[in-house]
Amino acid sequence: MKSVIIFGSQYGSSKQYAEMLAKSLHVEYFDFQEFNMSKKYDVLIYIGALYAGGVKGLSKTLKNYSTDNYNKLVIITVGIADPKDLKNAETIRNSIYKQLPKNLNKEIELFHVRGSLDYSKLNLQHKLMMKLVYQRARKVPTEKRDEETKALLATYNKKANFIDFNSLQFIIDRYMQIAKEVNI
Ligand SMILES: Cc1cc2nc3c(=O)[nH]c(=O)nc-3n(C[C@H](O)[C@H](O)[C@H](O)COP(=O)(O)O)c2cc1C
Repeated sequence: MKSVIIFGSQYGSSKQYAEMLAKSLHVEYFDFQEFNMSKKYDVLIYIGALYAGGVKGLSKTLKNYSTDNYNKLVIITVGIADPKDLKNAETIRNSIYKQLPKNLNKEIELFHVRGSLDYSKLNLQHKLMMKLVYQRARKVPTEKRDEETKALLATYNKKANFIDFNSLQFIIDRYMQIAKEVNI
C-alpha cells in the first residue's frame, strides 16, 4: 500500500504528529505547501491544525489534488479542544464536512488528537482572535460553560501542551487494518 502524509501546521504541533506517524508507518510526509500534486497514492493521510474550525491547508490541498490520484482519505485534526468530549468531536466533524469539496467521492476516515498552544508565540492575528473568543467565553454564565469554554478560560494567555503521541496508536492500528483489507 502506497501512502503519504500531508500536514498543515502553523506552530509545529501538527508537524510533530506528522513526523511521528510517518516514522511509525514508514511513509513520506510533506508540508501541504510543498506537496507534489502529480504523484499517486492509495491512502492520503492529512494531518491539520484546527483554526476556528478550519483544518489548515485541507481545502486548498483537496481542491488542487486530483481525486484520481488517491483512493482513500484519512483526516487527522490537531486542536486544543478535547475530542473525548462528544460535543467537541461533533463540532470538529461538522466543520470538516463543510471544508470538503462537494464532489469528493472518496472513503474518508476522521480522527482527532490534541495539540499545544503557547500564547506568547502567537502572531498578532491569532492573539486578537483568541482575545475575542476569550472575551465571549467570559460572558457565559459559569453554570452554562461547556468543556471547550472551560478549557479556553483555564488556558488563556498561558502555555498549554496536550500533545500525546500515544493517541496515534489507535490510528496506526486502523492503518494496519486498512492495509490488510486492501491486501497490498
Ligand atoms: C486563532 C486560533 C484558533 C483556534 N481554533 C481552534 C479550534 O477551532 N478548535 C480547536 O480545537 N483548537 C483551536 N485552536 C488551537 C490549535 O488548533 C492548536 O493550538 C494546535 O495545536 C495548533 O497546531 P499547530 O501547532 O500545528 O499550528 C486555535 C488556536 C488559535 C491560535
